[in-house]
Amino acid sequence: RKNDRFAIRHSISYMARNQPIGIFDSGIGGLTVANAVSGLLPEEEIIYFGDTAHLPYGDKSAESIQHYSLRITDFLLEKNCKLILIACNTASAAAFETVEKYLNGNVPLVNVIDPVVEAVAADLSIRKIGIIGTKGTIKSGVYEQKLKALRPDLETVALATALLASMIEAGFYNNSVSQAVINSYLAYPDFSDIQGMIMACTHYPLIEKEVASYFNQRIKIFNSNNLVANRVKKTLEQLDLLNDARQNPHHFYVSDFTESFEQTTKIFFQGEIHLEHSPIWE
Ligand code: DGL
Repeated sequence: RKNDRFAIRHSISYMARNQPIGIFDSGIGGLTVANAVSGLLPEEEIIYFGDTAHLPYGDKSAESIQHYSLRITDFLLEKNCKLILIACNTASAAAFETVEKYLNGNVPLVNVIDPVVEAVAADLSIRKIGIIGTKGTIKSGVYEQKLKALRPDLETVALATALLASMIEAGFYNNSVSQAVINSYLAYPDFSDIQGMIMACTHYPLIEKEVASYFNQRIKIFNSNNLVANRVKKTLEQLDLLNDARQNPHHFYVSDFTESFEQTTKIFFQGEIHLEHSPIWE
């Protein structure tokens, strides 16, 4: 690949604390993760990339998502990022290992799956866990594999809930329409005796209350956002790369711009965002 030079030029030993954190997602749902990172680490500068030209990733092949993820990684390296966070469950499932191999240890890489898997595995009150996410995430089986590796005794039950991400993006959450759709998915018989649910999609923090109330607050809900923000903090701390004074504003790039996308950012990120069009596929 012609862009190998970026990974080589970037080496942890040459990085400075004031370099930005690179965050990417298939679109704007990953802003829930960016929001958690900026809340926990307000001195960090964020470069966000939403691949709105290719969303949703939930229905794409793993090969396509790997291809997109490598190009976006290059974009974030060109922007001089000191850490890359894959803020999308579907891309974390399909492309984490591909990007990890590409970076070859030169740039720290965080995904949204491992911190949640570790939290669930460490919680011994959970004997059976539910997982909901996009078709791509669920079909990959990555949550089950990683959970079983840490806790072979843990029972898992996963369900693709394809409608939920687009439903939330269209503004349907905490209302009667969303409750009906959520109830219909959660009525899956295998979910009846779970002690916890993994919300394996960046959009799902917005329906956390509805999922909790479906189960009468009886189960634990695992959202990746705070766990992932903490993982980013810990990773930077260990490398002595935490910034202490942010100099530049955050930037939010998308591969396809519409006003509708910009409007929708309000659902996922506290504070006003201006999307910048960066047509990296042209
Ligand atoms: N952001 C994706 C995820 O977390 C969901 C949206 C999509 O399918 O692109 O899985």
